[in-house]
Amino acid sequence: MDYKKRILVTGGAGFIGSHVVRLLTNKYPDYLVVNFDKLTYAGNLENLSDVEHKENYVFFKGDITSSTDVKNAFDQYAISDVIHLAAESHVDRSIEGPMDFVMTNVVGTVNLLQNAKDNWNDGDHVFHHVSTDEVYGSLGEEGLFEETTSYDPRSPYSASKASSDHFVSAFYHTYNLPIKMSNCSNNYGSHHFPEKLIPLMILNIQNNKPLPVYGKGENIRDWLWVEDHARAIDTIFHNGRIGESYNVGGLNEWTNIELVKYLCQLMDKKLGRISGESEQLITYVTDRKGHDMRYAIDASKLENELGWTPSIQFEEGLEKTVDWYLANQSWIEKVTSGAYQSYYNEMYSNR
Ligand code: NAD
Ligand code: DAU
Repeated sequence: MDYKKRILVTGGAGFIGSHVVRLLTNKYPDYLVVNFDKLTYAGNLENLSDVEHKENYVFFKGDITSSTDVKNAFDQYAISDVIHLAAESHVDRSIEGPMDFVMTNVVGTVNLLQNAKDNWNDGDHVFHHVSTDEVYGSLGEEGLFEETTSYDPRSPYSASKASSDHFVSAFYHTYNLPIKMSNCSNNYGSHHFPEKLIPLMILNIQNNKPLPVYGKGENIRDWLWVEDHARAIDTIFHNGRIGESYNVGGLNEWTNIELVKYLCQLMDKKLGRISGESEQLITYVTDRKGHDMRYAIDASKLENELGWTPSIQFEEGLEKTVDWYLANQSWIEKVTSGAYQSYYNEMYSNR
């Protein structure tokens, strides 16, 4: 078939990537969507079981740090566009071992940029780099991250993402590579790997295990429904201006402890427990090193210029998320077996 676009979606088997792949394959039957993923511990093709048989979807197992893998994918599928989500994404893991983050997030991104530059001599192309609000550092009690906020990454993860953002920008300024960039706040929703706060708490509440809240639980995150992030990526990819970056966020700030208590109440209802029962599981543990205090996004550029707004309230999204985890035990068993158990024990026992 003569596809209008042939998009390489890196990290398509991960949490956000699978929502992006699902949206694109369903909404654009005249695009070929190539899911390029190494299938690390965070990548799972079952995340895409509902789209894997579609004609306009293919999976390519590859590593973004390998020039051979990336070149083969570009050649085999005549890639016209890239939406780049592949990354090492967990801050706690980056504190234990930064080098994987440098390799995938920095070297892998430059390798993709280099291949896009070598392949796209003329015509209409977009390299959309998906990044994070963590590149801006940590806010005090007031203010929001704007696109013009100076970069001030604090963790090895955010330093690697900031570095990748700078390379993306450099390829635009130096080689005119047609890039777009988005920096998003914390996502939540289905298929979220259980190392992250919300799914970790849901599963621990369900299994009557301690709920490890770092420090005093006063750190603030701005939570966004993952499908709203996927819609934002679709909007920016199609309508955003070349060379620009867009912040994506929910204006939805919660302290971690408020959020964990809210999840406890929700789970008490879902599991038929007495109100307040699950809160007994809350355990304050040693804080994350260099723990950023507050993230909050000003998404007005995206809203005013491109008309995007979040679609659902947090309470509704959280309930849908809890329902998804309760209904998908086999997914949970698959992703939490084996290596995840050792990770969990290393991270949380004696903390
Ligand atoms: P994730 O960890 O769930 O998934 C990452 C995916 O990348 C996995 O499928 C993994 O197999 C793949 N991958 C890792 N290394 C690879 C490599 N070397 N080659 C090819 N594939 C590789 O991550 P996520 O939470 O879905 O995040 C996706 C992107 O969005 C990341 O770039 C992240 O920085 C960014 N982001 C995430 C959030 C969030 O709240 N999760 C918020 C803002 C931005
Ligand atoms: O802001 C966007 C970022 O959000 C993304 O770029 C990252 O890829 C993504 O992992 C996420 O980073 P955070 O570090 O904010 O997410 P995490 O779920 O790891 O932690 C959320 C908050 O909860 C944070 O303040 C640390 C705290 N926390 C986390 C865990 C896993 C706990 O208190 N206990 C926990 O067990």
